[in-house]
Amino acid sequence: LDNGVGKTPAMGWNSWNYFRCNINETIIRQVADAIVASGLKDAGYRYVNIDDCWMEKRDPTTGRIQPFANKFPSGMKALGDYIHGLGLHFGIYSDTGNKTCEGYPGSWGYEKLDAATYAEWGVDYLKFDYCGMDGVQESVQASYERMRDALAATGRPILFSLCSWGSGQPWLWGKQVGNSWRTGIDVFAAWDTAQARALKLPSFLQPILGAVRQTQGLAEYAGPGAFNDPDMLVVGLDGMYPYGIVQDCPEHVRNCKPGEYISRDRWGKVGGLTQTEQRTHFSFWCVMAAPLILGNDPRNMSKATLQILLAREVLAVNQDPLGAQGRPVWTAPNEGTTEVWAKPLADGRTAILLVNLGNSTVDITTEFSRDAPAEHAKWSRETNSTAPKCVDKDELCPSWAKSGECIINAGFMLEKCPHSCPEGCPQPLEP
Ligand code: DGJ
Repeated sequence: LDNGVGKTPAMGWNSWNYFRCNINETIIRQVADAIVASGLKDAGYRYVNIDDCWMEKRDPTTGRIQPFANKFPSGMKALGDYIHGLGLHFGIYSDTGNKTCEGYPGSWGYEKLDAATYAEWGVDYLKFDYCGMDGVQESVQASYERMRDALAATGRPILFSLCSWGSGQPWLWGKQVGNSWRTGIDVFAAWDTAQARALKLPSFLQPILGAVRQTQGLAEYAGPGAFNDPDMLVVGLDGMYPYGIVQDCPEHVRNCKPGEYISRDRWGKVGGLTQTEQRTHFSFWCVMAAPLILGNDPRNMSKATLQILLAREVLAVNQDPLGAQGRPVWTAPNEGTTEVWAKPLADGRTAILLVNLGNSTVDITTEFSRDAPAEHAKWSRETNSTAPKCVDKDELCPSWAKSGECIINAGFMLEKCPHSCPEGCPQPLEP
């Protein structure tokens, strides 16, 4: 979106991955302080973004949105002032529907008033979710355009982050509407499908490799001010709290019945990535020119976490002004556990990522002449296709899918087809 901001992928922090709904102004201020004190601010992490659950109700006469008074007693303007006082930017969250994913008031029908309110509060970033839209006739694009126009009308440059996780193929139109768009469902602190299955995650949470596979074929849609967003980072989280409807009950959840909604408290904290997996996750996000929005608790970071997040040269690849998204240019033909990625840079050089997905040390050699236009085309075609896909141990596969089952990637809801797989249905993405 050509709105003067977000020319390189956004860098900052968001409350959701670590705090979920347990947020208040004290926490947000402490996090902002920690972002400065730890050196994250100097490395470029500037946005401090409050996610779902800050808003309680609308004023019955004016319709103006109001934060929970017990969580944000000083008000949002004061909080924004505090964040700005530290040289950071202030981000907030709302939803296209009349309810957010957690059931609080969304912006449906109130776009202009909400945008004006955010501008008064000094908001610099809006994450706009896509919940509560069942049965709405309007196209996804049109819903997001109404908020885009409302933000533009305020005259304040506000980075517009489309949390378009349930909405088909936002990359096809995202560039005209937002500074970034989500390419899939929420990322969980699990590495691959095998781990996601073992954890019995609900179908709207996916592992790191799922988000990578869903985003890697979309390079052609990215550029300055317009980026594919595979979701926030899970670096520095020693696990996360899943929640949602389960088909397959995790053993440790007592009295669980298939088809039941399990709350995060009943589920407890599970998952987590090794340091190597965290470094690889971060490297993937950097080479894919993905927004780098931290999801940890910056008040309490290990040295190892900071080392990953402050890697200057890796950050420079992500923030390169050309804004090109890197692509996989080569995968090992047989076992498929080594990959070479390439990202063109503004000065004509190319950044290379060598990935080892196997369990042992390997040598990876590559040649700068190695490029694979045919592979690029294949990945783009397959990721953009809405045709049903056979899924068999593939990373696009949700944890509940069975081998050979037919899955439609309907945005974040990977749905089971009503029919079985057509003969010869290609394996998506993986050799
Ligand atoms: C769904 C989004 O994908 C998450 O990042 C988070 O914003 C939640 N909604 C909040 O309800």
